[in-house]
Amino acid sequence: MKIFPNPVLTRDQAAAALDTAVALVRQNLPLFTEHCQNHSSVNDIYPPCENNQWTCGFWPGEIWLAYERTGDEAFKTAALKLADSFSYRIEQKIDVDHHDMGFLYSPSCVAAWKLAGSETGRRAALMAADQLCTRFQEKGSFFQAWGALGAPDNYRFIIDCLLNMPLLYWAGETIGDPRYAELARRHVATCLAHSIRPDGSTYHTFFMDPVTGEPVRGATCQGYKDDSCWARGQAWGVYGVALSYTYTRRPEYLDAFRRVLSYYLERLPQDMVPYWDMIFTDGDEEPRDSSSASIAACGLLEAAKFVSPEESEAYRTLAAQMLFSIADKYAVQEGPAGIGLVRHGTYSKKSPYNTCTPEGVDECVSWGDYFYMEALTRFLTDWQLYW
Ligand code: GLY
Repeated sequence: MKIFPNPVLTRDQAAAALDTAVALVRQNLPLFTEHCQNHSSVNDIYPPCENNQWTCGFWPGEIWLAYERTGDEAFKTAALKLADSFSYRIEQKIDVDHHDMGFLYSPSCVAAWKLAGSETGRRAALMAADQLCTRFQEKGSFFQAWGALGAPDNYRFIIDCLLNMPLLYWAGETIGDPRYAELARRHVATCLAHSIRPDGSTYHTFFMDPVTGEPVRGATCQGYKDDSCWARGQAWGVYGVALSYTYTRRPEYLDAFRRVLSYYLERLPQDMVPYWDMIFTDGDEEPRDSSSASIAACGLLEAAKFVSPEESEAYRTLAAQMLFSIADKYAVQEGPAGIGLVRHGTYSKKSPYNTCTPEGVDECVSWGDYFYMEALTRFLTDWQLYW
């Protein structure tokens, strides 16, 4: 495993960084209690939005993390109000025809249930898990990410979906039904078999044959090109398999974790915050994706719970180095209302070879803010998962 000479975040620095983040969340609370926060900022300031994006769960997750840090009831009140909005969204089926039910409902509603005993949160999260199950494709054994179910041009899964699996594990454990975990097991098996290349890099998306269920081809949407490695997708791989290991203890998930982590580390630039695609590195005139580093740090801190003391120490050191870099050079210290927490994230950058809509390039991104706070909280406490 690659070793870095970089500085390591101390506990005092982590506490100060988390308190700065909490102060920014407090400042932004009036803007984003009746509304949600847009997926990405515009010149580092988030516009408000309706509760209709795949990213809307991250802001309530930040509020719950701020509540855990401070115990301040103002955070709990605002987060519970947002849980009502998420309940309405799943009841009315507003923009839920996609797989991102975990991204939406784990940090908002599972957190509301775990931290405040919210029955509304519990019920909404269970409905969201059922909604995700409707997207399972028997032919090929996977959750279809986007588009009309069964449509040949969208008959595919994406690496990001690993973060939606914990909602299924949680739902199954909560109501005592093994079918949720079984669908997750089948999806993760398909994903690990086809998304991870022999060198440990990952495809962003992977098409299956709707008639035979056989694998067809890997392709990118938000990465630079089909055979490069999208930096956030690789981080979803790192954290996603770690979380599936937590719930299932399947050794092949830990093995996959080590392979995707190894590639990730090899392709990092000197400051350990990747460019938006790992085809780029030091010296390239390309934007970073700071959110990828925070997601990877969470994966390292999760996996560190389950490995030998030596490996665990190595993972915690890597996470502390990544977090030092983000806290030192990327994190916002102060700014006007609506400002994000971490600069230099990239949502979707257009390339000559990819199919994404360009959005949020070199901006704050809501999941980047959330996972930065989660990673700092993990670093400082024995954190109970929202996932
Ligand atoms: N899950 C979509 C993204 O990471 O942009």
